[in-house]
Amino acid sequence: MAARKKKPFAKASFDEIALDELETLSDTDIEKQHKQMVKVRDKFKEAPVEPRPTSNIERVPTGIPGFDELIEGGLERDSTVLVIGGAGTGKTTLVLQYLYNGAVRYKHPGVFLSFEEPREKLYKHMQVFGWDFAELEKKKLFTYLQYAPHQVEKIMEEGGGTIRDAIEDMEGGSPGTVRFGMDSLTSFITMFHNEYEARENVVRFIENLADWNCTSLVTVEPRHVSPDTPSTEIGVEFMVDGVIALYMIKSGDRRETALEVLKMRATKHLRKICPYKFDRAGIVVYPKETIFGAKLF
Ligand SMILES: Nc1ncnc2c1ncn2[C@@H]1O[C@H](COP(=O)(O)OP(=O)(O)O)[C@@H](O)[C@H]1O
Ligand SMILES: [Mg+2]
Repeated sequence: MAARKKKPFAKASFDEIALDELETLSDTDIEKQHKQMVKVRDKFKEAPVEPRPTSNIERVPTGIPGFDELIEGGLERDSTVLVIGGAGTGKTTLVLQYLYNGAVRYKHPGVFLSFEEPREKLYKHMQVFGWDFAELEKKKLFTYLQYAPHQVEKIMEEGGGTIRDAIEDMEGGSPGTVRFGMDSLTSFITMFHNEYEARENVVRFIENLADWNCTSLVTVEPRHVSPDTPSTEIGVEFMVDGVIALYMIKSGDRRETALEVLKMRATKHLRKICPYKFDRAGIVVYPKETIFGAKLF
């Protein structure tokens, strides 16, 4: 009797498709991208690179080596994406890397709203990666807005006027180019008297960011570190266009950093937990690597 022909799979799984597409991207490519970033950072001069849209959706590349490949080339223009992770996972660094790359590679001005570290301290820390934010400020490519958490209500009462003014100031004649970073939404949320008020104000703030034509990364701390999908008290993850989760996964007596795109509207994104490292010029993501021997939480 003739052997029965094996039925081919009608369709590869979503992950396989996405991984296939990454086949062309080797670790050497990522290393190359990182080297290029070091070069760009060192030269800090005009860069003719333009965002490379891969569909009809306009993308804003983060420039983080190994990351844009996960999300079809970058963040959707005018979208707001959450960066969720515990203390020390690299949320602040990732957002500042996005803003720094935007300024030096794409001439996109950045506005950073912080309720956390003081400006001088943060600038000093970011010099470890060779990022000179004071220089960017001088070149009108970066604005640092520092608020104490108790000023949140005031910001919202005045309709975000100060922030909008800073954005308008930075964009000059090119609306829609501003990259916005907020650190952190946790400080923002805790200032409201109840969940309802907090939710209402977060929604309003996110709407404002889109109205102001900003492409934004906003950090937040998860409700608790657990084996579950990270979430926030008031469900911010449902209000935003995308969610990037940063983990510190315990492996024996070590912890490894890994990143996952949990949500990215209108984007065919990779569903895989990818390791990342802090390197000479910031965070580098390794989409094809696995976290060997690591237990999830
Ligand atoms: N140059 C560096 N080399 C290696 N790791 C670094 C370096 N700079 C910062 N880190 C890591 O980044 C962490 C802080 O990152 P940060 O962006 O402030 O985290 P978060 O905002 O999530 O609290 C540090 O605890 C350290 O683990
Ligand atoms: Mg931080």
